[in-house]
Amino acid sequence: MKRRVRDAHAILMVTPEYNYSVPGVLKNAIDWASRPYGDSAWAGKPVAIMGASIGTIGTARAQYHLRQSFVFLNMFPVNQPEVMIGNAAERFDSAGNLKDETTKKLISQLLTNLVEWTRRIGAAPR
Ligand SMILES: Cc1cc2nc3c(=O)[nH]c(=O)nc-3n(C[C@H](O)[C@H](O)[C@H](O)COP(=O)(O)O)c2cc1C
Repeated sequence: MKRRVRDAHAILMVTPEYNYSVPGVLKNAIDWASRPYGDSAWAGKPVAIMGASIGTIGTARAQYHLRQSFVFLNMFPVNQPEVMIGNAAERFDSAGNLKDETTKKLISQLLTNLVEWTRRIGAAPR
């Protein structure tokens, strides 16, 4: 996993929200790839976040907890747009396809911004 993170030009984290925070599985993956101390795979990586939940807040609290971790991980998050997809059950069809046009545009903008941000800060795989 650390090799794959190191090989990446940029990271995209996509998450639900568990008990107002980051699901343990995602946090555990972040923690494993950050150790041993001084040998974190995350350092210097550009990163974007998006998330979906069945509630109205759309993973906002989980995303701000991720941003807090990025400070110590020395990752560089894209600030905007914030893609917090609330009421997710209404935005996908029964086959799991996203059908909400506004959400599609928001996701597209986030990915465009991640590419632009990655080029701007000049991060390279290492
Ligand atoms: C343990 C647990 C805690 C959850 N806590 C939240 C929460 O704090 N906020 C929220 O919007 N949804 C919460 N949910 C609902 C998740 O957003 C929903 O399960 C998710 O969209 C689907 O991902 P999953 O299949 O990994 O559970 C929770 C779900 C679980 C299982």
